[in-house]
Amino acid sequence: MTLANAPSLHDKTTRAFLRDAIQGLTSARKSLSPKWLYDSAGSALFEEITGLPEYYPTRTEISILRSHAADLAGYVPKGGALVELGSGASIKTRLLLDAGPHIAAYVPVDISAAFLHATADDLRARYPHLAVHPTVGDFVNPIALPAALHDLPKVGFFPGSTIGNLEPLDATALLARARAWPGIETFILGADLVKDPQVLIDAYDDAAGVTARFITNILMRMNTELGADFDVDRFDYIAEWNAEAAQIEMSLMAKVDHHVSLGGQDIPFAKHERIAVSQSRKYTIGSLGNLANAAGWSVQEVVTDAESNFGVAVLKAQSAG
Ligand code: TRP
Repeated sequence: MTLANAPSLHDKTTRAFLRDAIQGLTSARKSLSPKWLYDSAGSALFEEITGLPEYYPTRTEISILRSHAADLAGYVPKGGALVELGSGASIKTRLLLDAGPHIAAYVPVDISAAFLHATADDLRARYPHLAVHPTVGDFVNPIALPAALHDLPKVGFFPGSTIGNLEPLDATALLARARAWPGIETFILGADLVKDPQVLIDAYDDAAGVTARFITNILMRMNTELGADFDVDRFDYIAEWNAEAAQIEMSLMAKVDHHVSLGGQDIPFAKHERIAVSQSRKYTIGSLGNLANAAGWSVQEVVTDAESNFGVAVLKAQSAG
C-alpha cells in the first residue's frame, strides 16, 4: 500500500502517528512510542494484561488503595478536588471517592474523549454530590485545568505505575508541572517497586502471550492505519530486565534481515535488530524520593502491600522558593 491510499492520513492523530513512527524507525536505535499501543484493540489487550496471574501490579495497587482508602482520601481537604492523570474507567479512583464523600470535585484527564465523557456520566450518576470535570488531555503535555476549580485545594492522582513508562526526565517534568497547578498540595503516585527480576520478567512476558500480542499490535496498527507492510511473524517479543536503569525493557526483535515500507520510506531491519517499544521503571523508596525531590515534592509516606511489591506514594508540595 502506498501513502496515498493509506486509510485516514488526513486525520490529525494518524499524521502524528506517522510522523512519530518514521522518526522512531529511521533513527539509529529504532523505537516506537508506547502511546501508540492503546488503540481499541490495544486497550482491550491491556485490560486482559491487568487480570493475568503473572501481572501483579494492578491487583496489588487496588488492594493497597482499598485497605488505605480512608487515609488516602483524607489527604483531599473538605471541599477539595481530586485530579487524575490518565483516568481511563476511573476504577481505582472510585475506591477513593467511596471513602471520601467530602471530596467536592473530580477532574479525570484522559486522551480518549469518548471514553472520558462516558465515564464522567457514569460517575455523576454514582456520586450525585460530586462535580465531575472531564478534561481531554495528554499528561505528557501541560494540562488546562477547569478554571472553575482554580481556587480549590487539589490532590493529584497518578496510579498504575504509568510514571515508570516515561523516560526519567519526562517523569520529573510531569511531576514538576503538577507541582505548579493552582491549589495543589498533595500528589498520590502509584509506583511499582524493584524485586526479583524473574517476577518482573514474567509480569511483562506472560505464559499466555497476551503482552506479546499487546506489543505486536503496534505493528498491525501501522499496517492498517499508516499503510505499512510489517510481517508480524518476522518479529519476536522480548522483555528484559536492565538492572542499571532499574527497568523492564520491552522490544520487538527482527528474526531475519528484511525491509519494511512505511510512509514512502524503505526501512531496513537486520536480523536481531530491535525496536524499543516501552520501558517500565521500578522504584525503591530511595529512587522515589529522588524523583519527587527533583520535581519540588517531598515523600510524606509510601504505602505498600505486605510483600512490598508495589508502592502508593504520598507526595507533599515543597514550598516554593
Ligand atoms: N504501566 C504499566 C506497567 O508498566 C503498563 C504496562 C503493563 C505495559 N504491561 C505492559 C506497557 C507491557 C508496555 C508493555 O506495568
